[in-house]
Amino acid sequence: MRFDQKASFYHENASIQKKVADWCSEWIERDCSQFTGLELGAGTGLLTKHLALHGFRDFCATDISQSMLEEGRARLPLIRWEKQNAWQIGSRKADRIYACSLLQWAKNPNEVLSQWRQALLEDGRLLICFFIEGTLEEFGRLDQRFHAVPWRCESEWIEIFRASKIEILRSETRSDVVSYESPRAALRHIHNIGAIGENRMKPYELRRLLEHSESGQSGSFDLSWRTMRVECRASN
Ligand SMILES: C[S@@+](CC[C@H](N)C(=O)[O-])C[C@H]1O[C@@H](n2cnc3c(N)ncnc32)[C@H](O)[C@@H]1O
Repeated sequence: MRFDQKASFYHENASIQKKVADWCSEWIERDCSQFTGLELGAGTGLLTKHLALHGFRDFCATDISQSMLEEGRARLPLIRWEKQNAWQIGSRKADRIYACSLLQWAKNPNEVLSQWRQALLEDGRLLICFFIEGTLEEFGRLDQRFHAVPWRCESEWIEIFRASKIEILRSETRSDVVSYESPRAALRHIHNIGAIGENRMKPYELRRLLEHSESGQSGSFDLSWRTMRVECRASN
């Protein structure tokens, strides 16, 4: 992923992530005045701006990327922003932990979820939203190597939560289709928001993939995004 390099483009271009953050925000409890809140991978603040309205006793938005933190701080200066690796959160504790459009990037989601569970104070909850299998499938169908992460389906995620000793209180999925003027425009958009993996295809392979997706295509090009939102707590 290249979020650090693309931080200044992210906010204006992350249209699907904005939709997903708005969707995730529907499950934020109305009155959070009794809670300490921690947001991981907060980026430029697409979910943070919702969290900021819920009156937390104490709240901190975090990200691993310095340039994302600067973008977030500039947009929401009254929020406390801190650098934090979401995969190694150490001894941090909170009543409520949030992460939107982040977890799909974890190489070992079991380990990450176990850490997040351990960071919850008594009666604590996690609200997490992430992309699942079905995302970018139009490109993946042509070449599986296109995918920056191994997409997992809903049932695989449910099993990962269970194995991490996390009880799901409620979960839901959604599907979105974004229309681009061409496959090339779609790919440019994904690159512009930094949502690309480390094991990228070689340029000539990407070119071939684009040629394949453009052949027979007339009019707009539709790209799928599939998301899951989960509210959960440590299981007994
Ligand atoms: C797709 S963006 C999502 C940002 C924001 N939550 C949103 O909904 O728009 C992913 C964010 O996670 C951050 N990130 C990636 N890996 C991280 C890690 N290990 N620890 C903390 N943040 C991370 C990136 O810097 C980026 O800001």
